[in-house]
Amino acid sequence: MAKITYVEHSGAAKTVDVPDGWSLMQAAVANGISGIVGECGGSMACATCHCYVEESRLGDLPPAEAGELEMLDMAAAEVRPTSRLACQIHASPKIDGLVIHMPETQG
Ligand code: FES
Repeated sequence: MAKITYVEHSGAAKTVDVPDGWSLMQAAVANGISGIVGECGGSMACATCHCYVEESRLGDLPPAEAGELEMLDMAAAEVRPTSRLACQIHASPKIDGLVIHMPETQG
């Protein structure tokens, strides 16, 4: 399990216990967190789960695959070096305490 804090663009934050193996998109949708849409259900086909990961924790995540980077190019909001798709980040004890920020818009 990992405690993940989701920070909306407005600054509103919510911390959620995410079971191991769940994607951060799944957990956001299940917990009614606005700012993550997850339109394609996690098949890396929409970029509406775009988020910004804290820079200091980027090394705790497996690097983005080519398909994720391609999809991020379609993201509605500014893409930064810390941009990831929340559907491609899966909970594990390694990412406990991670904070992700949602962009201004997902579409
Ligand atoms: S939910 Fe569609 S790309 Fe992540």
